[in-house]
Amino acid sequence: MKVMGIETSCDETAAAVVEDGRRVLSDVVSSQVAAHRPYGGVVPEVASRHHVQNVLPVVRAALADAGLDLDAVDGVACTRGPGLVGALLVGVQVAKSIAYARGLPLVGVSHLEGHLTAVQLENDDPPKFPHLALLVSGGHTQLIRVEAQGRYRLLGSTRDDAAGEAFDKVAKLLGLGYPGGAVIDRLAETGNPRAIHFPRALPGRTLDFSFSGLKTAVRTWIERHGRPLGPALHDLAASFQQAVVDALVRKAVLAVRREPVSEAQLTGGVAANRQLRRDLAAALGAQGVRLHVPPPNRCTDNAAMIAAAGFHRLERGERAGWDLNPQASLPL
Ligand code: KG4
Ligand code: ZN
Repeated sequence: MKVMGIETSCDETAAAVVEDGRRVLSDVVSSQVAAHRPYGGVVPEVASRHHVQNVLPVVRAALADAGLDLDAVDGVACTRGPGLVGALLVGVQVAKSIAYARGLPLVGVSHLEGHLTAVQLENDDPPKFPHLALLVSGGHTQLIRVEAQGRYRLLGSTRDDAAGEAFDKVAKLLGLGYPGGAVIDRLAETGNPRAIHFPRALPGRTLDFSFSGLKTAVRTWIERHGRPLGPALHDLAASFQQAVVDALVRKAVLAVRREPVSEAQLTGGVAANRQLRRDLAAALGAQGVRLHVPPPNRCTDNAAMIAAAGFHRLERGERAGWDLNPQASLPL
């Protein structure tokens, strides 16, 4: 079954065609980062307008790259939430229109389920069920127990900022531009992670996260010492990054001790972070848990993951009606 996926929940306009939930026939992502950079973050109205401009060319490119026309597509899946409602609306309406015009089955998919399914794409050895997932992006920070395809249990999530949001806000404080995660990662490689002690929030047994206090601690440090330059900037980046990584790793270890599993996956844009990948693989490995990390272009927002998640729902007979609507917040 060939499924077209459409993703417009935030600042990437994406379309893809995936066969049987695994084989990626095309995967087109049009990023709006340049449009949002002057504002230091995603501006919802700007995102919606760019989606309107980009969505049809992106859908056409996904078909062209796959060497298919719509006659060869068997179903349509779109992200229905969570995300920016005006942005989601664009993808949902286009998906509905294609499905209606072509008489194709339609399904709405949770963006989070998409992220959790990305690890299966082009992968002959995906994590077995049940497994633990750490989903860390600019919008989400969640520990999820993946019981089976389509069955998820939320174990913990951030109480304030997402991990990627913390990277972006600290990068902004340091004048490093937007988005800042990759820049901090690069600076941190040659910094001393023990140079400055930043707080690790929620040290107790909870599986929740909190990163807003850490951001405030960095701001206070900068107010006191001034914006660091040279080696001091690398040290601050490394110390901040280690505080985020330690919090994520500690809770992931707590989660596998509480709910034993033998496999885990790390996904979302922050999964690109090298310190996080190293420390998480080592800490989970010590617990006998094997960590899977999808390639970077499958960790960040894309439509192949939506097509894959949609495939499983369509296969189970799920169908959305023409009243399918975006939902800004959508529990797993
Ligand atoms: O998954 P994603 O592309 O979009 C969202 O759904 O949010 O994640 C983007 C986030 C941004 O906050 C960005 O700063 C962060 O991922 N990020 C990183 C790295 N690369 C991207 N954070 C830490 N280290 C990185 N290497
Ligand atoms: Zn995402």
